[in-house]
Order: sequence, then structure tokens, then C-alpha cells
Amino acid sequence: MKIGVPAEAAASESRVAATPETVKKFIGLGCKVVVQSGAGDGSDISDTDFKAAGATVEKTATAVLRSADIVLKVTRPGPEELKLIKKGALCAALMDPYGNAAEFQPFADKGVTAFAMELMPRISRAQSMDVLSSQSNLAGYKAVIDAAATFNRAMPMMMTAAGTVPPARVFVMGAGVAGLQAIATARRLGAIVSATDVRRAAGEQVESLGAKFVMVEAEEDAETAGGYAKEMSEGYQRKQAELLAATIMKQDMVICTALIPGRPAPVLVTQEMVESMKPGSIIVDLAVERGGNCPLSKPGKTVVHRGVKIIGDLNLAGGLAGNASQLYSKNLLNFVELMIDKDKKQIAIDWEDEIITGTALTRDGKMVHPVLQ
Ligand code: NAI
Repeated sequence: MKIGVPAEAAASESRVAATPETVKKFIGLGCKVVVQSGAGDGSDISDTDFKAAGATVEKTATAVLRSADIVLKVTRPGPEELKLIKKGALCAALMDPYGNAAEFQPFADKGVTAFAMELMPRISRAQSMDVLSSQSNLAGYKAVIDAAATFNRAMPMMMTAAGTVPPARVFVMGAGVAGLQAIATARRLGAIVSATDVRRAAGEQVESLGAKFVMVEAEEDAETAGGYAKEMSEGYQRKQAELLAATIMKQDMVICTALIPGRPAPVLVTQEMVESMKPGSIIVDLAVERGGNCPLSKPGKTVVHRGVKIIGDLNLAGGLAGNASQLYSKNLLNFVELMIDKDKKQIAIDWEDEIITGTALTRDGKMVHPVLQ
């Protein structure tokens, strides 16, 4: 069993899909690991570190991919990389499957079994493989750190002889994994924090972090069996907009993390609401990749609208590549381990396992996942 870890092709991607720690574990499972030279640079992992862990380091992606039985990546292999992947290989990555079905026909045609790590079912057995949790947690932290660094005021209250510096007011929209970490980070920095969500269960978690929970009074609860939110009715959205308008105008920072799996991000912070904020206020839109919670945010850019800075960073977790790679590659190790027969030291996939069927996009020359239909 040979595991191949190429360098990420996109210059904007600083993470890597293996670390010396996971390389050692894979070798312990009977695998050989081949890593492309420089793959760990963005995460401060050198070729020497990978070699010391037992990996072979190859110069080119071709040398890594041509014989790999299992390809591990951060993002979906592009057409050039796919050409190099061996027929019949397995490939696990953040595949970005929603709305991109056409991208996976070439995987099926080549007989590559592609696994989308972001589709990991939210069951307790899969928690150690849950890449959305591991990466969103870091993104939530980094969003507040970036907002604080961009803000030209202080976060905590300071009482000095020359006067009092007021604490910053931070509003977090969406209290899932990223949102809760954003709340905790803003609280640690001394801000006054409030948060909202459409799932009632989030209220207790928000309050346990010392923040105020703001929610529309309604019968409707958005939590699905999978733990995610669903789209809300028009009536709810109208009430929510009123509540948000009254809340946002008082904030110095708004951290947007509201997402609905497989759907465009809900629009929550309208242009009018942005214009109600004081100049110098900051919005960080973590939902920008899926259209954004704020229609003014732009993917990969910081937009200034009437003095309000709207940060649309597409890879906040990548800004903490050292931690992000460590956690992501551990998620991958736990997932791949599930597909290895440790006694026979060979790949053995249980196609009855919901972790496998929940993440597999292609199998035996076909696109098999419902998100691709
Ligand atoms: P997510 O990234 O899909 O969404 C972020 C948050 O936005 C969610 O809390 C969602 O309810 C909220 N949201 C969606 N639409 C909204 C709207 N219109 N207005 C305000 N808020 C809105 O969700 P995430 O962070 O991945 O987690 C969702 C849930 O799953 C949480 O309850 C989390 O604790 C749970 N979870 C369970 C795991 C497991 O059992 N293995 C692992 C990780 C999370």
C-alpha cells in the first residue's frame, strides 16, 4: 500500500495532507509513504522532517502520484494532477462537491475512488475524521484575530488616567463550530460578545461561553437530524432581518459563519445594515466561499464600504497552516485507517459502512453520491 502526498498545486493553499506524525502511523500500518519535496513548506515541515519520519521524498508530482494506491490531498486534484493518478487509486481530499458534479466525471472515468472529507457523517464514530470541525474551529479563532488586527481600536476595556477605552462589541452570526470558537476568542480578548443562530440548542452553548444569545422568537427550529441548519421560512427571515438590523448597528465587529450544507449561504447582513455600522467597524465573512452572509463581501478580498472593512478570506484555517495541517492530516489518517486491513496489510473497504458511503463520490467508474445527482 503506497500513500502519495503531492504538494498542493494552488499557491494560496499552505496546508499539507500529511505530517511526520501521520507518516509514522501509516508506516506502522504497513504502508509506504511518498511525499513531494516542499509539500510541507507552508506548514513549516521540511523534507528532512518527512524523511526522518520514514517517508520517501520525490521531486515531482508525477513521481509521487504514478504509483500511489491512496492519494491524500487538501483540495481536489485538478485535471493535470488527475492525469497522473493511477487508475483504480483512492483519493481523499476536501473535494468541494456541491454544485460541481461535472468535475467528478473524469474521476469516475479513470476509475479513481474519490472521497469528499467534508461529507463526513456527524456520528460519534466519525468525530476524529471530521475535517469541517477541525478546520472551522481554527477558522473561527483566526477570524477574530484578523478582525482585531484590522480594527484600529482595542478589544478590552481599559481605564486609564487619560480616559476610558470602551470594550469592542462583537456579534457572531451562526454559533456552530467556527462561531463558538469565535465567541470564545473574542471573549478572551475582552470584547462584549453576542451571537445568534437558528438552532435553539445553540443558545445554551453561547451563554456558557459568557456571550448573550439573540434569537428570533418562533415556533420553528432549524436543527436537522444531522445537526445542521435548514433554510428558514420567509416569515422567519423577515423577523430575523428586523432583529439583526437592530443588533448590528451597535457592533464594532460582526463575524459571519452561518451556513446550510449544500445551499448558498443565507444573506443576513444587508447593505443597509453595513451602512448602519460605525466607520472603522469590521465584518469577517467566513461564508464567502458559498456566496457570503453579507452580499458586499468578495471572495479572497477585503472590501471597504463607507468605512466598514469586510474581510472575505477564503482560507482562514490555512492562515494557521501548522495547526490546520496537523489536525487535517490526523483526520485523514483516522479515515484511511478504516480502509486498511491491519492483519493482511492491504486495502479493504467496507462498502456497508456509512462513513464510506457518506463520503465516496465515485466508485467503479460511476458517480455514486446523491450530492452529485
Ligand atoms: P455549519 O458550518 O453548517 O453552520 C454554522 C452555523 O450557522 C450553524 O450553527 C447553523 O445553525 C447556523 N446557521 C445556519 N443558517 C443560519 C441563519 N439563517 N441564521 C443564523 N444562523 C444560521 O455548522 P457547523 O459549525 O459545522 O455545526 C453545526 C452543528 O453540528 C453544531 O450543533 C455542532 O455542534 C454540530 N456538530 C456535531 C458533530 C458531531 O456530532 N460529530 C461535529 C461537529 C459539529
